[in-house]
Amino acid sequence: MRSHYCGELNASNISQEITLCGWVHRRRDHGGVIFLDVRDREGITQVVFDPDRADSFALADSVRNEFVVKLKGLVRARPEGTVNPNMNTGEIEVLGLELEILNAAQTPPFQLDEHQSVGEDVRLKNRFIDLRRPEIQQKMRFRSKVTSVLRRYLDDNGFLDIETPILTRATPEGARDYLVPSRTQQGSFFALPQSPQLFKQLLMVSGFDRYYQIAKCFRDEDLRADRQPEFTQVDIETSFMSEEQIMGMTEEMITNLFKELMDIDLGAFPRMPYSEAMETYGSDKPDLRIPLTIVTVSDLMAEVDFKVFSGPAKDPKGRVAALKVPGGNSLTRKQIDDYTKFVGIYGAKGLAYIKVNDKSNLEEGLQSPIVKFLPIEVRQELLTRLEAEDGDLIFFGSDSAKVVNEALGALRCKLGEDLDLYTCEWAPLWVVDFPMFEETSDGGITAIHHPFTAPSCSPEALKADPLNALSQAYDMVLNGTELGGGSIRIHQSSMQETVFELLNISEEEQEEKFGFLLDALKFGAPPHGGLAFGLDRLVMLMTGSASIRDVIAFPKTQSATCLLTQAPGEVSDKQLKELNIRVRKPVTE
Ligand code: AMO
Ligand code: AMP
Repeated sequence: MRSHYCGELNASNISQEITLCGWVHRRRDHGGVIFLDVRDREGITQVVFDPDRADSFALADSVRNEFVVKLKGLVRARPEGTVNPNMNTGEIEVLGLELEILNAAQTPPFQLDEHQSVGEDVRLKNRFIDLRRPEIQQKMRFRSKVTSVLRRYLDDNGFLDIETPILTRATPEGARDYLVPSRTQQGSFFALPQSPQLFKQLLMVSGFDRYYQIAKCFRDEDLRADRQPEFTQVDIETSFMSEEQIMGMTEEMITNLFKELMDIDLGAFPRMPYSEAMETYGSDKPDLRIPLTIVTVSDLMAEVDFKVFSGPAKDPKGRVAALKVPGGNSLTRKQIDDYTKFVGIYGAKGLAYIKVNDKSNLEEGLQSPIVKFLPIEVRQELLTRLEAEDGDLIFFGSDSAKVVNEALGALRCKLGEDLDLYTCEWAPLWVVDFPMFEETSDGGITAIHHPFTAPSCSPEALKADPLNALSQAYDMVLNGTELGGGSIRIHQSSMQETVFELLNISEEEQEEKFGFLLDALKFGAPPHGGLAFGLDRLVMLMTGSASIRDVIAFPKTQSATCLLTQAPGEVSDKQLKELNIRVRKPVTE
């Protein structure tokens, strides 16, 4: 129907007769002349209708925003003084010759230019209109380019795109499963995959050697700005490749992507052991754009006369740590109170601080509610260790190591943002040498990655000291976000059984849930490993979006519902009967 897209017209089209199709973005009546801004996915063109052509003029007068139109017109240069350098098509306009209304539109629930004046709920409910906004259109196009570049890289490197089932059994990745009742096996349920993990391992056992899939994953977990219940992974698995080779190849894939689409050089990614990340940044996904570091001072505080510090300092699971903010002396009481509230979210019971007014005067030069508890030698050693200068502020966390890491780790990021401390725009890294397991609150142990991750030691060493065993797992982190994670897998059934045992999964349960995997490992499983990137997160970072919802065409809300389709919804009695399911009254919490 069209000869050109609205947004692609420029001075080279002057004097051409063209046909456009699109939406009326705006209609303006300028004293006898009607201007229609007509929009399609490529952009907006200004079309002018004169009263000379009475029919089309009358029609142009009658259209409203978001009508769908087709028009024939003549491209001409804009009159001097009306050129708009902010528009791709700003040098030209189209003299409207014929106009056809393809479809009328009711007044939309919000104008595209005024989307900020309505809540996100209104936009999500009317997502088909929201998606017309040029900004979101750009993001969707960018996302499509990202998958296209990634696919090309993987195809060129011999990876096969293979689909895996959606109706399947649970794959443990640490979240709750979404369940689907079976009609043919009443009382039984499919689980939607939390990832294609087990299937991709089976594909390696089958000899495919290099697999990838742009795969939908489903996790019923607490949602945040960078989490959706249904999200997309760029999922990768390889055989006969070492940890080093897998990291090298996927790093090259991401580096090429940034170069090709954004002309950004990410450089070589540094490697950081998990223990260092936790110790220095309080996080396994440190944001290295922020120059602040966390420094352990437990040894200095063990004997001080301040229980808040000395207790955790002496506790093997405790930690006392300091975070120096250069120039932070200027923070107001109110700001410090707000940061104290902020760390409270992570369980911190307070946020002690010292303002360094004059470091040469240890008696009077330190301003703080707690400095009175610290002997002079401790004050001196503290300032030396933190390389503190006059004008700095030092925050303290004292609690279990877990609480201190989470609280100071989050505070570090918050300070980075609030005080704009960023030293660069992009800071990628690999976090490596993760422990195999961590302790749960009830004293058991749980896999840090997933239970198919290979340890760096023998089954005997693993059994002897599971909590100190390291795994062959690696995470790619960018600007404080975990972009992707993976590992070398266990490829021997004896090792897999050992890990299941340590996780307290009984033999019957192993057989029931993972019998097929244990079997596969007995029939010639090659050494294999891989990783998966969160595509939504990757696109979110690359487009500078504040929320993962901005880069997903039809996202779900924080409470895991779809406002557009009203899913999840009730089903008919007939459907329930076929499934032999009776629904009880909802439980109120
Ligand atoms: P993992 O659980 O680390 O690993 O997931 C891989 C990547 O997926 C992204 N991601 C999410 N993105 C949006 N919303 C979510 N709810 C969500 N959960 C995870 C993250 C994460 O880094 N099977 C393993 C991979 C492997 O070992 O190969 C796995 O799923 O960016
Ligand atoms: P208090 O003894 O409660 O008056 O606290 C004295 C100072 O220590 C205040 O600045 C508190 O914010 C801080 N504080 C209290 N508990 C902790 C803690 N667990 N970690 C760090 N600072 C704390």
